[in-house]
Amino acid sequence: MIAADISDFRALAKRRLPNFLFEYVDGGSFSETTMRRNIEDLQAIRLRQRVMHDVSAIDLSTTLMGKPAALPIALAPIGLAGMYARRGEVQAARAAEAAGVPMILSTMACCSLEEVRAAASQPTWLQLYMIRDRGFMRDLLARTEAAGVDTLVLTVDLPVHSVRHRDVRSGLTGSQGVAARLSRMLDIARHPAWAWDVGVHGRPHILGNVASAMPAGAGLAQFTAWVGRNFDPSITWKDIDWLRQHWTARIVVKGVLDPADAVDAVAAGAQGLVVSNHGGRQLDGASSSIAALPAVVDAVAGQVPVLMDGGVRSGLDVLRALALGAQGVLIGRAWAFALAARGQAGVAQVLDQLRHEMEVAMALTGQTDVKTLDRSMLQ
Ligand code: GLV
Repeated sequence: MIAADISDFRALAKRRLPNFLFEYVDGGSFSETTMRRNIEDLQAIRLRQRVMHDVSAIDLSTTLMGKPAALPIALAPIGLAGMYARRGEVQAARAAEAAGVPMILSTMACCSLEEVRAAASQPTWLQLYMIRDRGFMRDLLARTEAAGVDTLVLTVDLPVHSVRHRDVRSGLTGSQGVAARLSRMLDIARHPAWAWDVGVHGRPHILGNVASAMPAGAGLAQFTAWVGRNFDPSITWKDIDWLRQHWTARIVVKGVLDPADAVDAVAAGAQGLVVSNHGGRQLDGASSSIAALPAVVDAVAGQVPVLMDGGVRSGLDVLRALALGAQGVLIGRAWAFALAARGQAGVAQVLDQLRHEMEVAMALTGQTDVKTLDRSMLQ
């Protein structure tokens, strides 16, 4: 299949990945209402068709969190991306670097930040969860600084893991008895291309950023169990003070949906926000990110840049988010599907398609500079 859009990459990823991995990345929480809303609310926003403006030169370059970017797009942090393709985070970082956009490496990546940093000359940004073991956190922050990372993205919408029915059904979570293990082995056997690429050649299957806290020889199941035990549900805005003592560069807070939380985040020292409901994977029933964006933008009143994620499936969606006040968007599943389908080339293709779609959308709305979009381009 030739992939023309993100839904085609999704179909390719579904074919290639073992079911438990596809369901993990594709799924949301509870009845997945918020996950669907993220997409539907974006697509329902009407754009104004404008004609007879000179659109022969279109500029998509911008600034994301104070740094130049070729497009108003960053790769969202995705846990376990190294399970979607061989050394997946390295492949994605290379594609992001070639396209001139940042990649936010997940704390829960398979490839460590050092491995990714060695593969790409631009520093990636690191996503961080507050982990109970503050000694581990201090070490990770020191490693992050040593790796040249200058932007930390603190995810705040996952104090607890949500209810994800698809992961129970696929056997990823829940009882890990003999039956679950057997069914996973059969699942893998039915996907030989993945088994060869990732199962055989994509080792080690560990969480590289967390490996220093684990006994030698620990497998992925032990890693994820450690992570589950170490998420800190007691986190509050005061913890940003703690973070500040160990991290001097930029702190972006990801996972804010409510304007009151946005105000608190800025007061606590956040230097940027990402409006996000974790791709509809946490509080089902919450607003879509795009519906929440305008009130957050108004609440922070230009004090810090605001990005958004959730439901971005085309260049039109990127423009919609920018028109409503986002400085840029993060894409998540879009790049994960492309990585699963075609590795680095797939991620590069998705970014290139989004770039082309944005250019077309800019031309048809009579816009030439992505930095000047505002609500006037909406119906
Ligand atoms: C973790 O970030 C997840 O959404 O699974």
